[in-house]
Amino acid sequence: MALLTGSNKIHIAVFISGTGSNLKSLIKFSKLKKSPIMIKMIISNNYKAKGLQYADIYKIKKKVFDFKNTLSEKKVINELKKNDIHLICLAGFMKILSKSFIKNFKGKILNIHPSLLPKYKGLNTHERAINNKDKYSGCTVHFVNSKLDSGDIINQKKVRIKKLDNPKTLAKRILIQEHKLYPAAIIKALSL
Ligand code: GRF
Repeated sequence: MALLTGSNKIHIAVFISGTGSNLKSLIKFSKLKKSPIMIKMIISNNYKAKGLQYADIYKIKKKVFDFKNTLSEKKVINELKKNDIHLICLAGFMKILSKSFIKNFKGKILNIHPSLLPKYKGLNTHERAINNKDKYSGCTVHFVNSKLDSGDIINQKKVRIKKLDNPKTLAKRILIQEHKLYPAAIIKALSL
C-alpha cells in the first residue's frame, strides 16, 4: 500500500454500525507509541451505535450518514477527503458500500469478517459454521472490492469450535481474536 511517508501516521476512518469493540481495539492500537496509524474519524450509519461513545471518550471526530443513496455517499466521500483519510477500516459496518464509493478508495478499504473466508460470506456466520459441524471457524481481514466479503484476504485466525458451542459463545471467542487480528492486518496491509 506504501502510504507511510517519514514519521507521518496513516489517517484512518473507522466505519461502525454497532457495539464498536473492534473500533475500541483499533483506538488502543493507535495509541501505542510505534503505531503507524492515527484514527481521525469515526463514521456510522446508525446514530444509536453504541460504539459512537468511543468518539466522545477518546475525543475523535464522529459523523453519522444514512448511506441511503449516492448523495449521502458523496457527502461521506467529501468528509473523508476533507479529513485527508488514507485508509477506511470497516468494523461491524452493516451497510454495503456502492461500487462507485469503493472505486473512490480502491485498495484502501479493509473489512473484518467473522468467518474463515471464503466460507460463510454474509450474515449468521457462527450459526452456519456450527450447523455444518465445522471443526474450526475464525475471522478474516480482507480488502473490500465490489463483491460482498470477497476481496483479497490479508490475514485470518482460526478458532476451534467446541462441542457445546452455540453462536453466542463462539462469537465471543472469535471476537477476542478479531481484536488482535485487525491491528496486525493493518500493519501487513501497509507493507504490501
Ligand atoms: C464483528 O464480529 C465483526 O467481525 C462483524 O461484526 C462484529 C462487530 O463487532 N463484522 P464490534 O461492533 O466491533 O464489537
